[in-house]
Amino acid sequence: MTTPPAESIAASDRTPRADDSSVVEIRGVVKRFGAYTAVDALDLDVPRGGCFGLLGPNGAGKTTSLRMIYGVTRPTAGTIRVFGIDIGADPRAVRARLGVTLQENVLIEALSAVENLRIFGRYHRLPGAELSRRIEELVDFLELGSHARLPVRALSGGLQRRIAIAMSLINDPELLILDEPTTGLDPAVRLALWSRIRDLRARGTTVIVTTHYMDEAERLCDRVAIMSAGRRVCEGAPRELIETRLAREAVELDCTRAEAVRLEAALSGAARPLRIGNRLTLYSDDSDPVVAAIHRLDGGERRALIVRPANLEDVFLTATGAKLEGGA
Ligand SMILES: Nc1ncnc2c1ncn2[C@@H]1O[C@H](COP(=O)(O)OP(=O)(O)OP(=O)(O)O)[C@@H](O)[C@H]1O
Ligand SMILES: [Mg+2]
Repeated sequence: MTTPPAESIAASDRTPRADDSSVVEIRGVVKRFGAYTAVDALDLDVPRGGCFGLLGPNGAGKTTSLRMIYGVTRPTAGTIRVFGIDIGADPRAVRARLGVTLQENVLIEALSAVENLRIFGRYHRLPGAELSRRIEELVDFLELGSHARLPVRALSGGLQRRIAIAMSLINDPELLILDEPTTGLDPAVRLALWSRIRDLRARGTTVIVTTHYMDEAERLCDRVAIMSAGRRVCEGAPRELIETRLAREAVELDCTRAEAVRLEAALSGAARPLRIGNRLTLYSDDSDPVVAAIHRLDGGERRALIVRPANLEDVFLTATGAKLEGGA
């Protein structure tokens, strides 16, 4: 094995090395609740370092998959290795090295952030002096300020979410799992949280995050996997998914079903259509011929249309079964 260069040791003892295996390896995982299959033959590798986004519509199986990764739900079939350890065989060894923020905050509301952190730190058996130092660091890192000493129930949703994230960081985890960390937060708090997640990533922490905000996933995640009905439907870097699975540009317009059929016939496969209600979006690498075809359809009167770069939301919508008409 080669010795890592000196600057990578200085930057962080968790700097990823080329020979490091995945932090999480999921193989053939199935989770059934009675007759219902929530996760269906899932294979997933989460690389060490970086931020990995698990995306999918409501009920896709994201939370269930995360619960199996940190060992509170057992798979019906298949294996999950975290840090190379079989989570079923040694969940404690895995949990000591990871942090989790659940979809719902789990905080003792009558107590302050500092008191919540102290209780959770004791659970992790952190010695007193180290725990006090760690609490101080986290209060500072998540900018809790004087709010850290007020009862949690007196605080806004955004502050409670930041405290929940602080809790998941108390043991300085190598892997941080965040289930919808920014749902319901205002834009400024979301931005502040993204920046904290980037700081953690820069220090070498691996982050797995779920979100319904595709702009957030596109900006924050190095890789994303999109799930639908318990299965992984696609995976890759956001930009790569947009350009290889879809196209560079999108043209959006309102039209009737009959107009959409005529337009799609005129384009004869030159653009991939997605129709939701009266809104038609046409994806292609070059929108000029698409716009020209729309203008020909309109004759003299030109309707309003939007030409924009395709984004991860477009990949999400086309991959997870919003009704595709025509060429899909
Ligand atoms: N304990 C359970 N018992 C029965 N069904 C369950 C249980 N937990 C989850 N499910 C079902 O499994 C499916 C996947 O749920 P899951 O919570 O993993 O979805 P999700 O992708 O996290 O959705 P959301 O985006 O709404 O959080 C859902 O249909 C859900 O109702
Ligand atoms: Mg969920």
